[in-house]
Amino acid sequence: MPVKRVNQVLRAIQQRQSIRTPFDRNHSVADEDLLQILEAARWAPTPHNMQNFEIIVVDERGLLEAISSVESPISEVFIRENFQQLSFSVEELKRKKVGLLGTMFPPELRNPEAKLDGSKKRKWSSQERLVKSGPVLLIVIFDPSRRAPASEGDFLGIMGLGCVMENMWLMAQSLGLAFHIISSLGEEPVETEIKNILQIPKGLRIAFGARLGYPPSKSSRYLRVRRDVNEIAHHNQYGHRPFRTIPLGKL
Ligand SMILES: Cc1cc2nc3c(=O)[nH]c(=O)nc-3n(C[C@H](O)[C@H](O)[C@H](O)COP(=O)(O)O)c2cc1C
Repeated sequence: MPVKRVNQVLRAIQQRQSIRTPFDRNHSVADEDLLQILEAARWAPTPHNMQNFEIIVVDERGLLEAISSVESPISEVFIRENFQQLSFSVEELKRKKVGLLGTMFPPELRNPEAKLDGSKKRKWSSQERLVKSGPVLLIVIFDPSRRAPASEGDFLGIMGLGCVMENMWLMAQSLGLAFHIISSLGEEPVETEIKNILQIPKGLRIAFGARLGYPPSKSSRYLRVRRDVNEIAHHNQYGHRPFRTIPLGKL
């Protein structure tokens, strides 16, 4: 079936990307843009319309600095499993079509056998440290004592948090704002420290953090790969794969 027209939603989805460079701390995010991002979050689908999330907008410099300096130890499990997602050349990444380029990570995180001593037990160029480079950090929190009805481990509720993430990300992207997820903000021991810094009640959890801002230059583009549509979609029966990919260049 030929594709006649590619609409703007697909264009926005294809163009959304992670920006992991420092942001320009002097380029603030306009209130109106921030409100649109929060509005996008508000309209995210959640199971049973639970709206099982709240968002803390952090833009006070002292708080951003405090969060930046939280130590984030790295585990050998992370190193091992991270390694499984890495490619070590552009050709390898293009062939595999999943994962990330190994060169995005410091050398000690590219060795799956690495035994880390105390000084190296710090996460991937410590993404938390990038927090202070930008004007805004969003922290998405939820209440783990509630769950989507009968959903084991609140699997459905957590999926809803993913919808919140994507809505905010697409909105930010459409406003020309860079967005960078930092999931380690929701992992111990970082989470407890951040909850203390932001006075988040003990019973709540951090789902993820997202840096928001403007990179100083456009050089943050990098190779992004995806499997083709006929590798992810089946028609009626598993293994029947007639669907085709719309190439980025066709937009
Ligand atoms: C649930 C989730 C957690 C993520 N955590 C991180 C993270 O901690 N640090 C990071 O740099 N990117 C993180 N990402 C971004 C992914 O690495 C990224 O979306 C993926 O590599 C595809 O690249 P793209 O966003 O540029 O399309 C996360 C994405 C999702 C959906």
